[in-house]
Amino acid sequence: EAVDVIVFGSAIVDFICYCPRLPKVGETLHGDRFSTGFGGKGANQCVAAARLGAKTAMIASLGDDQWGRDYLENLRKEGVNTDFVQLIQGETTGIAAINVSEGGDNQIVIVVGANNKLSAQGLKDAVKKFTEPKVLICQLETPVTETIEALKLFSGVSILNAAPAMKNAPQDLIRFASILCVNESEAGLMTGMEVSSVQDAKGAIKRFIELGANTVIITMGGKGAVYSEAKSRKVIHVPVESVAKVVDTTGAGDAFIGVLAYFIAKHPNMSMTQTIGAACEIASISVQHPGTQSSFPYAKNIEDRNLLSKKFAYF
Ligand code: RIB
Ligand code: NA
Repeated sequence: EAVDVIVFGSAIVDFICYCPRLPKVGETLHGDRFSTGFGGKGANQCVAAARLGAKTAMIASLGDDQWGRDYLENLRKEGVNTDFVQLIQGETTGIAAINVSEGGDNQIVIVVGANNKLSAQGLKDAVKKFTEPKVLICQLETPVTETIEALKLFSGVSILNAAPAMKNAPQDLIRFASILCVNESEAGLMTGMEVSSVQDAKGAIKRFIELGANTVIITMGGKGAVYSEAKSRKVIHVPVESVAKVVDTTGAGDAFIGVLAYFIAKHPNMSMTQTIGAACEIASISVQHPGTQSSFPYAKNIEDRNLLSKKFAYF
């Protein structure tokens, strides 16, 4: 069986409270709306790639509970291969408590539960089963040692989304990923530098390269993304058009990563600038809709919106 993108990572159920603003310490606030959604950075990234038309497989651990069974069903509905998704007895499915303010900002606590049981063995078995998987995606909501193992054993293009932020990340994490992708705050924590402007991001990328990184991408929300490719080492800023109304930024980074993987797997000759531009654009679509996976577009929606002719000549 052929697979374009393998995701080795997290699957988490999101409990989302929409509120006028984020609460202060010790404060109780009335929210306006509650919803549950399928989330977790790994599964979000996988679904984002799948919706554009990539053949995807997920290596993940869910709890042997109702949430886990529902989640498995959801992945299947999205057309994701789940041969290596396990329901782990005695573990709870990962959950995220998320608050989203009117301005679209968020605050998230995750209890990863069964995700802690994810082992690189799953990926070992998967690469044997699938013919020539092109792209691997990992994040940091699952055990770091297993993630390093996964990055080491994969021979295609590996993307590490080093999120959530991790201080003193092991150097192997950075070295063994073909592409390291982080947002501003993650870049700040990992390099010990202040990263808020495009100029700062350029400095942080240089630091990542000194630490042994290959290609580095720093996503910057409304400012787009800054990257440097291992082969050229030029540092390039890719801007993005601004959005009329931000509804919910949760999962926008995951949309970015999933789209990145889709293009690298399906259109490897497209330039990195174009690929990153497309990923920014689709992340921008996601911030205009509530939830994580629920806000990711399908290839056909993008065609409907006539973005196809404008920018993504590759769909
Ligand atoms: O990146 C967004 C995701 O982070 C949410 O879906 C939540 O599950 C947390 O893991
Ligand atoms: Na969203």
